[in-house]
Amino acid sequence: MTNILVAGGAGYIGSHTCLDLFGKGYTPVVFDNLSNGHAEFVKWGPLEVGDIRDRDRLDQVLAKYKPLAIIHFAAAIEVGESMRNPGAYYENNVAGTITLLRAAQAAGIDKIVFSSTCATYGIPTSIPMDEKHAQQPINPYGRSKLMVEDILRDLDRCQGFRSVILRYFNAAGADPEGRIGEWHTPETHAIPIALDASLGRRPHFQVLGTDYETRDGSCVRDFVHVLDLADAHTRAVEHLLSQGSSCALNLGTGTGTTVKELLDVVRRVVGKDFEIKYGPRREGDSPALVADNSLALRTIGWSTRHDLNSIIETAWRWHANHLPA
Ligand SMILES: NC(=O)c1ccc[n+]([C@@H]2O[C@H](COP(=O)([O-])OP(=O)(O)OC[C@H]3O[C@@H](n4cnc5c(N)ncnc54)[C@H](O)[C@@H]3O)[C@@H](O)[C@H]2O)c1
Repeated sequence: MTNILVAGGAGYIGSHTCLDLFGKGYTPVVFDNLSNGHAEFVKWGPLEVGDIRDRDRLDQVLAKYKPLAIIHFAAAIEVGESMRNPGAYYENNVAGTITLLRAAQAAGIDKIVFSSTCATYGIPTSIPMDEKHAQQPINPYGRSKLMVEDILRDLDRCQGFRSVILRYFNAAGADPEGRIGEWHTPETHAIPIALDASLGRRPHFQVLGTDYETRDGSCVRDFVHVLDLADAHTRAVEHLLSQGSSCALNLGTGTGTTVKELLDVVRRVVGKDFEIKYGPRREGDSPALVADNSLALRTIGWSTRHDLNSIIETAWRWHANHLPA
């Protein structure tokens, strides 16, 4: 039996992880309410439509597939929306996760890989940030993820329920074969928005903040290829299956790119210019987020294989050919 339950597996990072799991001999069983996922992204195993807040549905699916472990992507993911409606974020991301964990425990499953985020760190006091950096999130989205991290640490300490917490930096890029890609509604991520601008689907790209204390005044982010993230999830599952202990790992490249530098790469890869406007900072954004990824290398043997060019090229291929105009 090689089933792995992938909660949120019809979404962007989850679907790429299913591709990676399948390639390594596992059967990804996707559990997703399709609130922001796509049934057509579920290509490498069965889709069970359901909500992680629905305990009965979870019990049915866990009994049917008896997964070895769970990978948990299912969440509401927008920082801005979390500032407008924090209760919805705590309900989906925290209460939903508690229901999922209770169902897992009742089904005798004691291993989970959890999608956390660099947003749990808040404003960096040092760059790059390692996993010991203080976690002081500056928005409800980041706080919802930190709450789940705390719950997982307690479950390990008190009950031996093991977890790998993966703190992603900025996920980007797409399957090079163009079968799946980044498709959020609404889209709030910089690369798809820039690609939309270059395709004329948006009038311009808005740089949010030009007065940060960074090398050109725009925010610094660490863009990591979704295929590298997917590989880390399979490694994390295998770490747990081979009795590895619980841990929290940063997943980033270790290289920071400013938003303005990112736009230069987009223009070069796409070969088109587009209008850029400069606006004020967005509340809840951190000035710079760059990973120290050395613990992931030491713990699960993970390092990145794709650079920013490959990220933009694969994202462009997907975006130009597959997304509805
Ligand atoms: N995209 C990034 O750069 C990034 C960075 C850091 C962390 N993360 C985290 O990674 C995970 C995946 O992000 P993504 O970009 O793939 O987002 P996504 O929206 O594409 O995927 C999330 C999936 O979860 C599903 N979902 C949401 N609530 C659910 C619920 N209650 N029950 C069942 N399914 C539910 C959605 O339908 C969607 O398919 C999220 O937990 C997110 O917080 C993403």
